Amino acid sequence: MNDFIFHNPDKVYFGKNQLEHLSEELLKFGKKVLLVYGGGSIKKNGLYDSIVTIAKNSDIELFELSGVEPNPRHSTVNKGAAICKKENISVVLAAGGGSTIDCAKGIAAAALTENADVWPLVSNGVWVTEALPVVAILTNAATGSEMDAWSVISNMDTNEKIGLGGTALIPRVAFENPEYSYTLPSYQTACGAFDIFNHILDNYYLAGEATFDLLLEMQEAVMRTVVKWTPVAMKEPENYEARANLMWASSMALNSILDGGTVHGCACHFMEHELSAYYDITHGHGLAIVTPRWLTYILDEATAPAIYRLGVKVFGIPENLSAMDGAKKAIEAVTDFCFNTLGLQPNLSDLGIDEKHFKVMAEHACAAGSITGPKELTPADVEEIFKMCL
Ligand code: NZQ
Ligand code: ZN
Repeated sequence: MNDFIFHNPDKVYFGKNQLEHLSEELLKFGKKVLLVYGGGSIKKNGLYDSIVTIAKNSDIELFELSGVEPNPRHSTVNKGAAICKKENISVVLAAGGGSTIDCAKGIAAAALTENADVWPLVSNGVWVTEALPVVAILTNAATGSEMDAWSVISNMDTNEKIGLGGTALIPRVAFENPEYSYTLPSYQTACGAFDIFNHILDNYYLAGEATFDLLLEMQEAVMRTVVKWTPVAMKEPENYEARANLMWASSMALNSILDGGTVHGCACHFMEHELSAYYDITHGHGLAIVTPRWLTYILDEATAPAIYRLGVKVFGIPENLSAMDGAKKAIEAVTDFCFNTLGLQPNLSDLGIDEKHFKVMAEHACAAGSITGPKELTPADVEEIFKMCL
């Protein structure tokens, strides 16, 4: 276990009747609010009307940026940053899934730069320590953006999708009402759930040796929660218990409670970000396609015990197997979860993707030379894993 600092200043209002605190929280930052949202789901589920009414009743001046894309574009972020500069916005309010929250974070950072352009921050890997405050209302249990320090921005002109990080990007306040996720289609529920699962598996659980027992047990509990409650939420979209478990699991997976003292990996995320940068696919689906292949590729005598433990603790496979046989069973269980339980199409070719760009995508995924984790991956390894996904 490594030394660590834990500090997450995000104040979370969780549950059904918490939006009554929205105006008091926004007014702590000022009266001029930029509301950021996506393609209209918040108009269908009533959240938009609630926000407008709250703003009206509290003398809050609301500006809007709508149409944030899944895989949010830098150009959309820049539109929001321009509004902030022009209108002297005091706080950016995101209402939606990870894409909307990420876009709001990018806006908050770019608004304080001279040219209100987010891309130089993203492409230069700037760690953002100054930004407008962000308040998030979450509608999709998935990315953890509601409680983390990251914003993932896409530039489709250059086929790049890159994380912008910084302490100033952590939302100051997050509202998590599981009821707002009732309207999620089954496909988005499945993709979001696998994203949560993978944040733990990919980031910390299999990443390296610096683990400690308390954290391993907590990480497994969150992954078990996803395995248990996702099929329920897919079958019964208005099951509060299922939606609530998934929503808090989303936040727990990346709010840094579960990574204190660990080593970080993130191989599947590096590979998936290339897929969505080139083909604009849904992040969680890309992860579900890559993860079982990655596990198969990295399986050897050294990695088998940890992969077997995942199978035992999260999927309940028997404890009396050899490490190698147990690890193979664990990979079967992950595969079954992705493609049978979640019903996600298993191959990149199902999404119309061929190997045309794999070489350059692999090189880009290994921008630092290689990807670290339970097994170091070179560009040739990544290319091979992409091919296994076809
Ligand atoms: O745009 P609207 O109309 O809101 O519809 C969205 C979108 O079409 C819809 N949706 C969201 N909530 C809904 C709903 N539809 C009905 N009812 C609701 N309650 O779902 C679609 C997908 O939304 P999106 O926000 O794109 O999904 P998600 O939350 O999975 O976010 C994905 C983005 O986050 C990034 C991903 O790469 C991707 O760009 N990530 C961000 C991370 C972070 N900030 O730390 C980490 C993650 O690993 C990830 O990379
Ligand atoms: Zn993710």
